[in-house]
Amino acid sequence: MQIFESIKSIQAFLSVKKQQGCSIGFVPTMGALHQGHLTLIERAKTDNDVVVCSIYVNPTQFNNTFDLEKYPRNVDRDKILLENAECDVLFYPSDEIMYPEGKDDSMKLDFGALDKVLEGEFRPGHFSGVGLILSKFFHIVSADSVYFGQKDLQQCSIVQKLIDTLFFDIQLVVVPTVREKSGLAMSSRNARLSNEGKEVAANLYETLMKVREMLQNGEDLNKAKQTGINSIKKYKEIQLEYLEVVDRKSFTQATGNTSKKEIAICVAAFIEGVRLIDNVLVFS
Ligand code: PAJ
Repeated sequence: MQIFESIKSIQAFLSVKKQQGCSIGFVPTMGALHQGHLTLIERAKTDNDVVVCSIYVNPTQFNNTFDLEKYPRNVDRDKILLENAECDVLFYPSDEIMYPEGKDDSMKLDFGALDKVLEGEFRPGHFSGVGLILSKFFHIVSADSVYFGQKDLQQCSIVQKLIDTLFFDIQLVVVPTVREKSGLAMSSRNARLSNEGKEVAANLYETLMKVREMLQNGEDLNKAKQTGINSIKKYKEIQLEYLEVVDRKSFTQATGNTSKKEIAICVAAFIEGVRLIDNVLVFS
């Protein structure tokens, strides 16, 4: 695997590959890699000649300094995992490379109604930071396709809006959420949970599936949502931030008119001080 830390060096390498007619698949990450990330790499490898992974803990998307400081970092282990996954290129830049303008006075992006709800509402400025760093990466890597996990469903809609609005010539591919056997969605933040915390956290997915089943059986939206909220509130170890039944593209509240195919159930909660998010789609 080739490792690049500067923009010039990765661009020089990729421009040769492009001249040779290679297609480029890009997987942006913040490191502390797990099977969820590696599934994105596998999918990108199936679709492309060259796969680029970036590891960069982007400071502008953290609205909470404690969360940024505590974010797990283990780049030596990540490099081994990427080698084993046969990733071709790792882009591993520093803050000075990514924010020469200074990260405290960086450009802000507004995604309209989409960044005022759920993650946007509870993490003010988060999607602005995500949009800014991805715009930088999209220009640097200039990939054919970019791979994101359904685990961060609202982020996928933000990325699609970024691509459409700024005319990035890149295709968004969304990959299903990879879970532990318990159902807990894999996340870099899970590394901060105790074993007991992980066990409790599995109830988030169980609850999402319960609400999903109720909706599939034609239950009233509000009743299904309230049942989900009540079942999470039974666990004193879980501090629920939100559980919402929403339109899967706009993330506004689903109504009686929203088709089941368009509904997502999204949850965010703290366990042992760690913020976790998850979602499921309601098909049928
Ligand atoms: P990070 O949380 O490291 O996630 C990188 C990618 O892995 C995202 O597309 C995320 O949705 C996906 N992912 C995480 N857990 C997953 C799981 N259990 N199953 C499938 N995919 C999963 O998301 C970010 O980083 C950042 O916001 C980033 C896009 C890199 C911008 O800084």
